[in-house]
Order: sequence, then C-alpha cells, then structure tokens
Amino acid sequence: MDQSLNDIIQQLQDIRTQFEKEIEACSGAEVLEALRIKYLSKKGIISGYLALLGKVAPEERPLLGQQLNELKSLAQNLIAERVEGLQLSHRTHTFFDTSLPGIKPLYGRKHPLRVVQDEIKSIFTSMGFRIEMGPELESDYYNFEALNIPVNHPARDSHDTFYITDNLLLRTHTSPVQVRTMEKFKPPIRIIAPGRCFRKDAIDATHYPTFHQVEGLVVDEGINFADLKGIILAFAKKLLGEDIKIRFRPSYFPFTEPSAEYDFSCFKCGGTGCRICKGTGWIEISGAGMVHPAVFKYVDYDSEKYTGYAFGMGIERIAMLRYQIDDIRVFYENDLRFLQQF
Ligand code: PHE
Repeated sequence: MDQSLNDIIQQLQDIRTQFEKEIEACSGAEVLEALRIKYLSKKGIISGYLALLGKVAPEERPLLGQQLNELKSLAQNLIAERVEGLQLSHRTHTFFDTSLPGIKPLYGRKHPLRVVQDEIKSIFTSMGFRIEMGPELESDYYNFEALNIPVNHPARDSHDTFYITDNLLLRTHTSPVQVRTMEKFKPPIRIIAPGRCFRKDAIDATHYPTFHQVEGLVVDEGINFADLKGIILAFAKKLLGEDIKIRFRPSYFPFTEPSAEYDFSCFKCGGTGCRICKGTGWIEISGAGMVHPAVFKYVDYDSEKYTGYAFGMGIERIAMLRYQIDDIRVFYENDLRFLQQF
C-alpha cells in the first residue's frame, strides 16, 4: 500500500467536490449519462477506488469501505434526482406550452347509407308519405305467402333465403311491410318503409348478404299506374336534379300486376353511355307495379273499391351511384379512411 488511508480519504473528498461541481453544471440527459459512466460504471472513478479495498490493511477497511459507500450512494442519488427533475421539467413544459396544436378528437358521423336513407325519407315525407317499419326477423307468411308467393312458387328461388326455422327467416325484401301496414290501417295509405334485408348471395362488387331497401306503398280509390310514374319521377328529380329521366320496363313480381322494373337516366353521362351505366345510358333502380288483388285479399281490402301501387328501391345502389362507388363491400368493411369522407 503506497498511499496512506488519509491520502485516499482526501482524494475521495476531492472527487466528491468535483462530482458535485459537474452535476451542478449538467444541463441535459446526455451529459448526465456521461457523468454516470465517468463516476459509476465498472471502469468509472469510484469503482477504481473500490478495487483498493482489498489492498489496504484489514483494520483500515471498514472506514474506507464506509467512505466509498457514502460517495457511491451520494453520486447515485444525485444522478437519479437530476434524471427525474429533467423528466418532470420536460413534462411540465409540454403541459403548459399553449402554442402546441391541440389533439383533434375523432368525431362520429353518419354512415353513407344512412345519409342516403335519410335523404330518401325526407323527400318522401315532404310528398306526404309516412314512415313504417317492419321486423328484420320475419315470418314466411309476411315475406312470401301474403305477397302471393306460396310454397313451391318459383319466385322463391330468386330469394336465396336465410331460414332461422321452417317458419322464421331474415326478410329478403321490405315488401312484407306492405302487408303489415295494410293489416293495421284502412286506406288511404301512403307510406315508405326503409330497412335492412338479407339474401344468401355470394359476395362480389355488387352483391352482399345484407343490404337496404326502401319500400313504397300507396292505396286509395282511383290510384293508377300514372300516379306511380309521377311519384317516381318527382322523387328522382328531387334526389338527382331536374334533368333526370325515368323509364319503366315490363317485368314480373307475384305481388304486383302489372309489374315493372324502372331505371333512371345515368346522371354521370346524362344518357349518352358511360362506364357507370355500362354504355346503356340507364341505371336500373328496382321493381314496382300495381298491388295484386290477391294481396288485397290477404289483408281484407276490397279490390273492387281500392287500387294501389308499390315500389322498391335499393339504398346501396343509389348510394353507389350518388358517390360513384364501384364496390358495395366498402359500405360494410368499416374502414375509417372510407367512412371519414362523408
Ligand atoms: N320486393 C321487390 C324486390 O326486392 C321489389 C318490388 C317492390 C317490386 C315493390 C314490386 C313492388 O326485388
């Protein structure tokens, strides 16, 4: 041992003074880390002295050990204190920095299908229609039978139905609300019935196993096909503008006679033909027709006295045309990047 214990203790004192000076001047996390390495790491100054412990006389060991431990914990504590102080001042700084831009909360908004459905509803209510609703879980009777589609009728094949039991199913269209409404009320009737429908369709760009329709039904004395065309034209103009044209093509539905499918002139190209209307100038909307006397029979309406018309309307279809969306799946994937555009 070539140094006296007193010398060593004096050196430790100097190291302590030096350390305190350095940590006082220390301004950031990096300098603080450098300081820790300098004094406390394995090859640091304090560790170097710890190695001395083995070399001093046994009776000197306790005092030197105590001095070294004191210095070591002082250094550790001061560094820890400064680290915490730095973090705290950083946090306090951020908290009070009023120039930082705020965090924008995410606002909920209406789904595009809801936007279109609301618009369709408001157009029809402005023309004197009431809103009726029916259940999505429907009985065979309302979905098919009372609509003149008995068991084994070939029209059932076109509705790939989700059956829950023999008698209960997920409605394949909103037409059962026609029957439910006529059971509840006597004419005159003037309603629309928006809602969700289900069919076992394979998913592709234009088919999805769930979709939405709006049903329309008007029953009174003297209602005729011209009234139906008039209301569809008025609706189309309100929804898509004065220049829109409509056309009806003969078709078949068991619950209407005569039956038709109706188209809107393509509002993208105005009827000259484009990608959206596949070159035809027309866009298919849905089916319509005069209520079949057989349906009136189910609800006890006198078909000698009353006549009526009914129409359907696919909401996804109209939303796709309105927003020029070419894939129905986006409505159901709930991708925020899509939904936030509405
Ligand atoms: N319910 C028919 C369908 O889903 C559409 C329709 C409604 C046809 C009303 C005529 C009258 O295809």
